[in-house]
Amino acid sequence: SKTAVLGPLVGAVDQGTSSTRFLVFNSRTAELLSHHQVEIKQEFPREGWVEQDPKEILHSVYECIEKTCEKLGQLNVGISNIKAIGVSNQRETTVVWDKITGEPLYNAVVWLDLRTQSTVESLSKRIPGNNNFVKSKTGLPLSTYFSAVKLRWLLDNVRKVQKAVEEKRALFGTIDSWLIWSLTGGVNGGVHCTDVTNASRTMLFNIHSLEWDKQLCEFFGIPMEILPHVRSSSEIYGLMKAGALEGVPISGCLGDQSAALVGQMCFQIGQAKNTYGTGCFLLCNTGHKCVFSDHGLLTTVAYKLGRDKPVYYALEGSVAIAGAVIRWLRDNLGIIKTSEETEKLAKEVGTSYGCYFVPAFSGLYAPYWEPSARGIICGLTQFTNKCHIAFAALEAVCFQTREILDAMNRDCGIPLSHLQVDGGMTSNKILMQLQADILYIPVVKPLMPETTALGAAMVAGAAEGVDVWSLEPEDLSAVTMERFEPQINAEESEIRYSTWKKAVMKSMGWVT
Ligand code: G3P
Repeated sequence: SKTAVLGPLVGAVDQGTSSTRFLVFNSRTAELLSHHQVEIKQEFPREGWVEQDPKEILHSVYECIEKTCEKLGQLNVGISNIKAIGVSNQRETTVVWDKITGEPLYNAVVWLDLRTQSTVESLSKRIPGNNNFVKSKTGLPLSTYFSAVKLRWLLDNVRKVQKAVEEKRALFGTIDSWLIWSLTGGVNGGVHCTDVTNASRTMLFNIHSLEWDKQLCEFFGIPMEILPHVRSSSEIYGLMKAGALEGVPISGCLGDQSAALVGQMCFQIGQAKNTYGTGCFLLCNTGHKCVFSDHGLLTTVAYKLGRDKPVYYALEGSVAIAGAVIRWLRDNLGIIKTSEETEKLAKEVGTSYGCYFVPAFSGLYAPYWEPSARGIICGLTQFTNKCHIAFAALEAVCFQTREILDAMNRDCGIPLSHLQVDGGMTSNKILMQLQADILYIPVVKPLMPETTALGAAMVAGAAEGVDVWSLEPEDLSAVTMERFEPQINAEESEIRYSTWKKAVMKSMGWVT
């Protein structure tokens, strides 16, 4: 029974772009005991703009915590067993708030937002020294994706933000910082911090020295006093100040993609995982070495599991639109009512019948980094119906993964022999089979799909001063895997992939 093996419990907040979850794991078995999930609104006030309400995000966290605790009560599991909480979050999304009132000074500018395209263009014309200035320090290309340009936009365009900076009341943070500050007390002593993985996505953080970079802050015109303190991913940041879990330490913090890497136990050099969320992110552990890509991948901080522990880096292939294309089919086209219906539609036809869908809604990220691209659906005939479009949408996710896997293989030299996957979309069996067919290697997924949350819980449990996670990796139930083998022949796989590439070329250059 559950109680017979009940060890200390660890909670994890998983604040993604599309939804917030709170999950509680038994640290002795890694079993998921209870969870709750709430969908998060996205606002599109203008073409290319994507915003969220920071207070809605915060409330969703409290709601998920309360509901999860209620469910634990129904299972007769005492919430006093919860010894630590970890936070994992959508990365790059930018919030500025007033530390005196606790109020956000503008909506959160979401990582997918494109409003900073002209800022990026004008900044790229005045990069000091050589073109490598930003990439060599941060591992990132100068792109709308990262926080520094979003923060620049807020400083240039929002009077309230300018005033709060002048009056020394402004605090900047990615979602982790906003949540940890609020959960540890907000205006009453909230802790203003971030971890190295989230910091490494701002374009202001030097990934070699693991500090905010003065030159980068000057280049982007960012006042350094509004930046959070950078901490490791596994240490006590502060205690929960309210709600059912008041007094429990928050002792883990990882950007969601790093959390999934940890949750998939990719601790060795060369181990990689691909997570299908709103976007799709393939990360490969490169150990203590920063590897720079020649093929459009990012260099990023993977994790640092304690103040005195060494830092690990990763190469990352980032795809902006994965699950988001399914949400678009639901909310914008209305051809499905729930995401799960996509599988049913796709199954009905079993092929896109020559229809290709490039969902470049936010331009194209890796490996192209092409902000001028926009979404296209091509190869349509009078025969094409919504089932083919649904199928093409799923295939698009697989083709985009193939592009970043190819880049990863070229950068690393040793091709991956299989792909470890996780995330919401992996429950779609058609998608998983298509992925194996298109990559032409086996795709392997853990039976327990909440890998991101598990990673956040593991680092929270292992923090100095908490130490409840005592498992050997092989004991973890999370490592029970389901495997999908390629079923089409390599030639067919290549033909489909080369047609996809043709479609990608057509998606470029729409915005000048
Ligand atoms: O970089 C953005 C990423 O962290 C978002 O993750 O899970 O919301 O697709 P997700």
